[in-house]
Amino acid sequence: METVPRWWQAMTSSLAPSTVNHIRERVKQIETLPTIPAVFLPLLNLLNLPIDQVKLEEVVKLVSYDNTIAAQCLRMASSPLFGLARAPESIKSAVISLGLRKVETILLTCCMGNVFSVKDWTIDPTNYWRHSLGCAMVCRKFSEKLAASDGDKAYIAGLLHDIGFLVNCMTFSKEFAAAMEHASTQQVPLEEAELATMGFCHCDTGLALAQKWRLADDMLQAIAYHHHPERSHSAQPLVALVHLSDLLCRMRNLGYGYYERRRVDLAHDPAWAILANEYQALEQMDLARFSFELDEAVGEIAALVDIIFGTSHKE
Ligand SMILES: [Fe+2]
Ligand SMILES: [Fe+2]
Repeated sequence: METVPRWWQAMTSSLAPSTVNHIRERVKQIETLPTIPAVFLPLLNLLNLPIDQVKLEEVVKLVSYDNTIAAQCLRMASSPLFGLARAPESIKSAVISLGLRKVETILLTCCMGNVFSVKDWTIDPTNYWRHSLGCAMVCRKFSEKLAASDGDKAYIAGLLHDIGFLVNCMTFSKEFAAAMEHASTQQVPLEEAELATMGFCHCDTGLALAQKWRLADDMLQAIAYHHHPERSHSAQPLVALVHLSDLLCRMRNLGYGYYERRRVDLAHDPAWAILANEYQALEQMDLARFSFELDEAVGEIAALVDIIFGTSHKE
């Protein structure tokens, strides 16, 4: 018989045990919940290996399983956001121009776009993917500015942090629709509205999916704690980075498609102190400039989302 792992108990300690079981059961039973795409875990595993142990051929082989992903990957790599003078013609040439790590994260992004064919989107899919991709890119940029070692891991954490919204659309669509309605009429953060109307939020349902997918512990923590990084037990800097990137996106036109009334002061957020403790470079970071760079990238992120996730209004 399956036992409840201790980390699950700790992560969901704020919820009633019956609610936790309810979420787990729903997530387990619902047939429509996607299984992790075949190439996703091997790619994540490659990302965890030291770069000198990853063979270019392995990556190219993984991609060749799926032509759609390979084509999307090349289009994404051609985006001005990656600053290449010439669009790469093959995955191999993309790797040569952009580097193996970047191409791996591009591939993971394209995989994500193909996994979730949600039928009943309660949240606008365009907004959802813009927010997730925006957050992924901000996470990577942010960690580059901090000279943190693992910008690619940060990118993936940013991309996956809100997968619980997708679980909500698939398994709790009625309840989640009420939460969305509450959030947009009251202009409050969506997680606050979910807790007020459903008694749990996307962090809990996202965690259940991530657990089903057997993602690594730091990813689980980014998904479960990105609204409360101080609760993370062993991945606080990563979770704090995702938290701040999420806020930044929501402040700069990459939110969930409605106006949030609250004022956010990033530099006084507890997550800022967590990062400052870890990275000296944070002191020198020019937040206004960073926000401006994000504003400039918003249009390109929107264009990429249309390419990868196919959410554009077909004309
Ligand atoms: Fe979130
Ligand atoms: Fe978010």
